[in-house]
Amino acid sequence: MKTLAVIYHSAHGHTAHIARHVLEGAQSVPGIRADLVQADELARAPDALLRYDGFILGSPTYLGGVSGPFKSFMDATGRLWKTQQLKNKLAAGFTVSSLPAGDKQSTLLSMFVFAMQHGMVWVGNPILPEQHAGVPYDEAANRLGSWSGLMAQAGHGSAADAFVPGDTKTARMFGRHFAQTLHGLGTAAARQPSEEIAA
Ligand SMILES: Cc1cc2nc3c(=O)[nH]c(=O)nc-3n(C[C@H](O)[C@H](O)[C@H](O)COP(=O)(O)O)c2cc1C
Repeated sequence: MKTLAVIYHSAHGHTAHIARHVLEGAQSVPGIRADLVQADELARAPDALLRYDGFILGSPTYLGGVSGPFKSFMDATGRLWKTQQLKNKLAAGFTVSSLPAGDKQSTLLSMFVFAMQHGMVWVGNPILPEQHAGVPYDEAANRLGSWSGLMAQAGHGSAADAFVPGDTKTARMFGRHFAQTLHGLGTAAARQPSEEIAA
């Protein structure tokens, strides 16, 4: 059994909504246990990360970056960085914002750099945009065309009504892809953090 955590912050429920779809996709893979964890819980107790083989990181895009509470979670892992205890675990990222572009890429980039500093292995979002195959734009998987991580666009109103079906579908596919990758690369994730890289 491999374990993963979908770690998120959400002030108004939009990122939480997408996180639940990511979780659903991950839980559909046999041999995977997936938990939904709030970033501020982990900021208080970062050693809980050691229980997991992989992390799917989720934050709203605020002013072109991760939200303050999500950054506090990242910063709380400093001691784990020093000892490289998260090395070789799998990581991926997703972000939600209100504009079609909205500088979401830079949010994903800060998650990617965080994962790289910890020596993790990054998993992308290898889904071809379905609108090119004739699927209506709002129903198309990866309609926003993001391969480095998952992007979703939130409209106004309650979280349950804020997303087009294509974005929630992509979230489930992204969670499933990550879980399948973790399952397939299980032995890499289990390598000891202290193992030296041969010169
Ligand atoms: C302080 C702040 C900054 C924001 N900056 C951006 C931004 O840079 N780009 C964007 O498209 N939306 C931006 N938004 C909109 C949020 O990304 C959007 O409302 C998102 O759905 C919020 O997610 P949440 O409900 O999970 O908190 C911003 C919202 C706030 C409150």
